[in-house]
Amino acid sequence: MNDGIAYKTQKQPQKRGEVLICDLSVEFGKGEKKTIALTPTDLELKPGTFTALIGPSGCGKSTLLNAVAGFVTPTSGAVYVDGRTVKKPDESVGVIFQNFALFPWFTALQNVNFALKRLDLSRAERIERAHIALEEVGLSEHAKKYPGQLSGGMKQRVAIARTLSSDPDVLLMDEPFGALDAQTRLRMQELLTELWSKREKTVLFVTHDVDEALRLADTVYVMSPSPGRIVEKISVDISRPRPIDQFGEDFLTLRKQILQLLREYENE
Ligand SMILES: Nc1ncnc2c1ncn2[C@@H]1O[C@H](COP(=O)(O)OP(=O)(O)OP(=O)(O)O)[C@@H](O)[C@H]1O
Ligand SMILES: [Mg+2]
Repeated sequence: MNDGIAYKTQKQPQKRGEVLICDLSVEFGKGEKKTIALTPTDLELKPGTFTALIGPSGCGKSTLLNAVAGFVTPTSGAVYVDGRTVKKPDESVGVIFQNFALFPWFTALQNVNFALKRLDLSRAERIERAHIALEEVGLSEHAKKYPGQLSGGMKQRVAIARTLSSDPDVLLMDEPFGALDAQTRLRMQELLTELWSKREKTVLFVTHDVDEALRLADTVYVMSPSPGRIVEKISVDISRPRPIDQFGEDFLTLRKQILQLLREYENE
C-alpha cells in the first residue's frame, strides 16, 4: 500500500542541462570604438528545453551563444550551467556552427573519433561511439568518406554526430542550417527534432528564419540590435512533430507576431 508514497518521495535523478544567464552583458572595444553587443540579459533554459534566438544581423545572438559556450568573457554578470560558472569551453556544452568545422583530411568517422580523444575512452570504445553517432544521424554508409565527398547536409550531420558523440547536456547551435538548401534544411530540422526528443538535450539555437524557429523551439526570443537585447519572449505551444505542410492558425499567428516585431525594431 505504501509503494506509491515511497515512489513519490524517492528523490528523482536530477535532469542535467540547466542554463542560467544572469545579468549578462558583453561589450567589445573601448572608448569611441566600444560596441555594446549585449545589454544586461537574464535568461533561464530549463533542462531538455529547446530555445531559439532570432533577430537581425548584429543583435548579439552569437555573442549570447558564445558566452554560454565560454568563448566570450562577460563584461558583467555570468552564465551558469548546472550551477557551475562558465569560464571556458566545457565538455558538458557542445557547439555546432554553420560552417561545419570538419577536418578535410579526416573521414567522417575519423572526424568524430578525433573529437572523442578528449574523453577518457579506449580506441575501441571511441570507434564504437563514433559509429553509433554516425548511425544516429543516418550516415553509417558514408563513415569512410571525406568531407569533400559529402553534401552540405551530410557534412552538418557529421558535425552533429561529432558533438552528440561526447554526450553534452547542452547543445548550442549558431545558424547550423544557414548554408543548406531549402529541402535539406527542412530534413535537418526533422532530424534535429527527432534527436532532441530522444536525447533530451537543452538546445539553444540561433536562426534568421522565423519558420525554422517556430518549427523547432518551445520558446523563441526576439532580439534587436544597437544595443543588442532581447525584446520579446514567444512561447510556441504547438505539438510536435510540426510538419511544414500542416501549419495551422496558431502557427500563422505566431509567425505574424514575430515578423511584426522584427519589422518594428528594424525601424527604431
Ligand atoms: N570579437 C568582436 N569584436 C568586436 N565587436 C564584435 C565582436 N564580436 C561581435 N562584435 C559586435 O557585437 C555585435 C553583436 O555581434 P553578434 O555577432 O553577436 O551578432 P549576431 O546577432 O550574431 O549577428 P549575425 O546575425 O550577423 O550573425 C555586432 O555589432 C558585432 O559587430
Ligand atoms: Mg551570429
